[in-house]
Amino acid sequence: AIDKKVEALLTQMTIEEKVGQMVQYNGFYDATGPAPSDGNAQKKYEHLKNGMVGSFLNIKGVEQVRALQKIAVEETRLGIPLIFGLDVIHGQKTLSPIPLGESASWDLKAIEKSARVAAVEASAMGVNWTFAPMVDIYRDARWGRVMEGAGEDPYLGAKIGVARVKGFQGDDLTANNTIAACAKHFAAYGFVEAGKEYNTVDVGTSTLFNIVFPPFKAVVEADVKTVMNAFNIVNGIPSTGNSFMQREVLKGMWGFKGFVISDWASGAEMVSHGFARDLKEAAMHAANAGSDMDMESYAYVEYLVDLVKEGKVNESVIDEAVGRILRVKYELGLFDDPYKYCDEAREKELVCHNDHQQAVLDMARKSIVLLKNDGKVLPLKKSQKKIAVIGDLADDKTSPLGSWRVSADDETAVSVIEGLKKYTSNFAYAKGVDLVTNPVSFVTELDINTTDKRGFKEAVKLAKKSEVVVMVLGEHGFHSGEGRSRTRIGLPGLQQELLEEVYKVNKNIVLVLMNGRPLALPWAAEHVPAIMETWHLGTQSGNAIADVLFGQYNPSGKLPMSFPRSVGQCPIYYNHFNTGRPGNSGDNVFWSHYTDEENTPLYPFGFGLSYSDFEYSDLVIDDADQKNIKVSVKVSNVSNVEGEEVVQLYIRDRVAAVVRPVKELKGFEKIVLKGKESRTVTFLLTEKELGFYNGEGTFMVEPGEFDVMVGTSSAEGLTGAFVLK
Ligand code: IFM
Repeated sequence: AIDKKVEALLTQMTIEEKVGQMVQYNGFYDATGPAPSDGNAQKKYEHLKNGMVGSFLNIKGVEQVRALQKIAVEETRLGIPLIFGLDVIHGQKTLSPIPLGESASWDLKAIEKSARVAAVEASAMGVNWTFAPMVDIYRDARWGRVMEGAGEDPYLGAKIGVARVKGFQGDDLTANNTIAACAKHFAAYGFVEAGKEYNTVDVGTSTLFNIVFPPFKAVVEADVKTVMNAFNIVNGIPSTGNSFMQREVLKGMWGFKGFVISDWASGAEMVSHGFARDLKEAAMHAANAGSDMDMESYAYVEYLVDLVKEGKVNESVIDEAVGRILRVKYELGLFDDPYKYCDEAREKELVCHNDHQQAVLDMARKSIVLLKNDGKVLPLKKSQKKIAVIGDLADDKTSPLGSWRVSADDETAVSVIEGLKKYTSNFAYAKGVDLVTNPVSFVTELDINTTDKRGFKEAVKLAKKSEVVVMVLGEHGFHSGEGRSRTRIGLPGLQQELLEEVYKVNKNIVLVLMNGRPLALPWAAEHVPAIMETWHLGTQSGNAIADVLFGQYNPSGKLPMSFPRSVGQCPIYYNHFNTGRPGNSGDNVFWSHYTDEENTPLYPFGFGLSYSDFEYSDLVIDDADQKNIKVSVKVSNVSNVEGEEVVQLYIRDRVAAVVRPVKELKGFEKIVLKGKESRTVTFLLTEKELGFYNGEGTFMVEPGEFDVMVGTSSAEGLTGAFVLK
């Protein structure tokens, strides 16, 4: 029925109105105030009134959305409603952990719930489309945007991407609390060379089909409504002008029915890339390649009508793009009620609702990864006397909110100090050092303090007279995110020095890390007895951290990305190839290694400890039914403490037409085990898990020998093998 409505509407539209649907503007004026009367804003306002705008981004709040929607519905000839997009990346006002943190939970239900909460709040504020989830796979911790995705693995990334899409879109897109999702950035943005933002991408087709594409394909199968293309080139062609990816793969091979939005000005940037002579040619390439809506390039609004008239873009290309956009607007129910997301009472009731606080607290606890706990320093006892809390981030109510929080307000996170107060008053705080020297914002560079050590003395003094020292160190929330690539991925500024000074007087340190990317912390890993990775946990940060510190919650997170020993190992990832010279076969240097560093990561993908102790036994591989190979393992909690374990299954296809990685995650299950409880976990391996894509994008399943590993991380488990006949 929607197809018919779309077709009927298309027949009524002028070419200008059609092109208008393909235009997205950033919010450019206060829509509840007077109309802009000069300059660019006035021009855009005229476009809006003439039906030359199909969508807005970055409009915040019901009042503004309603005012703009009213113009589109009441003042344009056809009254086609606008669709309002926003980066609802890990929440609207109530924030859950950054996506990389959430991914560490490996808890698909919790992740779906977190996206649901985000959708409820965003929709209550008038938003009906989020530019999430980012399903880019990446391997380089230098890249700032690693905080925004699910890590290095395509299997985990696909599962998490689907969970997020389900959470945002719900079961019924016509409801007023569900929103359209957007899988981004299509494609291979995560492979920017050397982790440098907006840099060149050069990946082969085997990597594209086996690593980059699977999460996108999975979310298309889960009916994601939109896809965003990317800033980068792939094999010399900018993603926005890339017909192979958008037309052949996405819309062709995968049958994607929604629409493609460009990234911010990525159409115009094809000129800088050297792919288009000017903005007009950029518009031509983008439209012809299947980029349906233009975000802030002005390319379509300025040139697309002329290009059609000149025969350089066929009107059928426009019809197809507009049809896709209108279809999503119909699916959202915007034609039935353009104001369905505009209810001030609902906005007031739902934004920052107590239920949402509970949900993000749950998500935050689940996202914490215990990296080290020598001598069972953790959990702390409530009776513990004399706790020293040290570090600028311990008292910070903004940084733990993390990057990509376009709607949440500063100072709205629960700090670690506040969280601790719920458990004990036996602690004292010393900042030790200022992490940065300037006020920080989403768009500015951070000036890291590298000189002012005045606070060291007080911190060291406090540590000396304390039983245990909780040091909260790491990155500011805006050290990661878009435009924030780094070449040094240790503790920024003077924090490492502070840590070592404190260690000299008190070795009983619990290092609480806050960061948006894997950090290289070899000294801490060797010396500090307890290390807890907390990412940027969002609104309930301090409460979640305190709950884990005091054992109210038993940590269950597992790393979704390898932590390097040194930045020189980047990109480092568990599912690498074997190479022709994987090991040292003699006493010489001619093998694949570094002469000054190990090949292994500091902490591997899938790694994370618990206050419980788990043991694996009884690996059984039943390959009698070759279509459903059964792998089962017994997992026992040998401690007395109830806990959760993520049981992970990896395979290796030993010989293949296209070489396969040394390990590939092909199954996982998060289980709860009471103290002394055991459970058998069974996985099924079907053609879907055993096959791979060749360089032409053909899916193949080849007979041969497969290794299997089931265990607690990508580096540790029980091994077996089977033959696929
Ligand atoms: O959604 C983002 C994208 O990920 C990066 N550029 C800007 C877009 C809209 O804010």
